[in-house]
Amino acid sequence: MKSIIYVFSTTGNSLAIARTIGTMINVEQIVSIPSLGRHKPIECDADTIGFVFPVYHATFGEKGIPHLVIDFLDQIDQIREKYIFAVCTHSGFPGSTLDHFDQLLKEKGGKLSAGAAIRLGVPYSTIQKLSYLLFHKPLSANPENERKKQMRFEHKAMHRIEALTFAIKHKVQTFRRTSGFFKPLLNVFLALQRRIAIVRYQTLSGLKSKDFTELIHHADSSFTVSSQCNGCGICQNVCPVGNIVLINSQPKWLNACENCNACYQWCPKEAIGGKIVEFEKRYHHPDIKISDMMNTQVSAVTWDLRQSS
Ligand SMILES: Cc1cc2nc3c(=O)[nH]c(=O)nc-3n(C[C@H](O)[C@H](O)[C@H](O)COP(=O)(O)O)c2cc1C
Ligand code: SF4
Ligand code: SF4
Repeated sequence: MKSIIYVFSTTGNSLAIARTIGTMINVEQIVSIPSLGRHKPIECDADTIGFVFPVYHATFGEKGIPHLVIDFLDQIDQIREKYIFAVCTHSGFPGSTLDHFDQLLKEKGGKLSAGAAIRLGVPYSTIQKLSYLLFHKPLSANPENERKKQMRFEHKAMHRIEALTFAIKHKVQTFRRTSGFFKPLLNVFLALQRRIAIVRYQTLSGLKSKDFTELIHHADSSFTVSSQCNGCGICQNVCPVGNIVLINSQPKWLNACENCNACYQWCPKEAIGGKIVEFEKRYHHPDIKISDMMNTQVSAVTWDLRQSS
């Protein structure tokens, strides 16, 4: 029986979770989704297939699945009658990401057998963001509190992972779509959030468009580079979609951005900033190293099951 886990990860949360699951179920390979490219059929001969990825933009009423994971699903073949599991990592609002994932699989003749939404991120709170916007109070984190929160999340995550890996090992169908009792109310809230997001992304991109995907792609216009940049090229290397080129040893963004923030998060000089990341904490998962994230868009990167040293 062959098993494989496909992963997309930029701050390392999803990769760390994939490694834990991979070790527990003895998976053969953990493969980087961006490294397989977006426009060719992906043949998969495994019987058990896992997907681990972050939730993106569920708070704005989107599907919650990063575009490059949606594109990847479109390319992958042979998913009928396979045992498929998915884990989405998030920072507090996964929305209906796994329901949407199940729907996409069904459109390709497969289905989600087991899934888990795992919270790992600790973003700035809404109060902190409002104080910053209204009263210019600097956004700051308390490392002690943050570590405690993170440990609580990791503890809960372990319970979820144990239940999930039990289901995977025994090939149990455990995934159920969430019931829609509060959905109409939630949809009103999300529609409002989306309107606010469109206005923000219009400012970031400098475009008037209302097409959210187009706005996201062009929001990289608001990245800035400080004089700390030493031209090392790490930002170019960690970008999962090849959206950065170095010109005169300085990054230039090419308006096909996924807003994943890998360039910002992994720049060793903290030279990248700008409005696009003004609410983003600098963070990466403690077990994930920069060497794990390098060249994730280069042909077929397979990650080691163990942590790199
Ligand atoms: C562009 C973007 C959009 C995000 N949207 C959401 C969201 O809607 N809900 C949520 O809970 N977390 C959201 N997050 C947080 C990530 O899902 C979370 O930090 C995740 O664990 C990151 O995984 P990774 O380290 O594997 O990339 C978002 C992060 C980014 C960069
Ligand atoms: S990673 Fe940072 S220091 Fe290196 S080239 Fe990019 S912006 Fe400059
Ligand atoms: S340019 Fe930066 S934020 Fe945009 S996709 Fe690449 S790494 Fe992610």
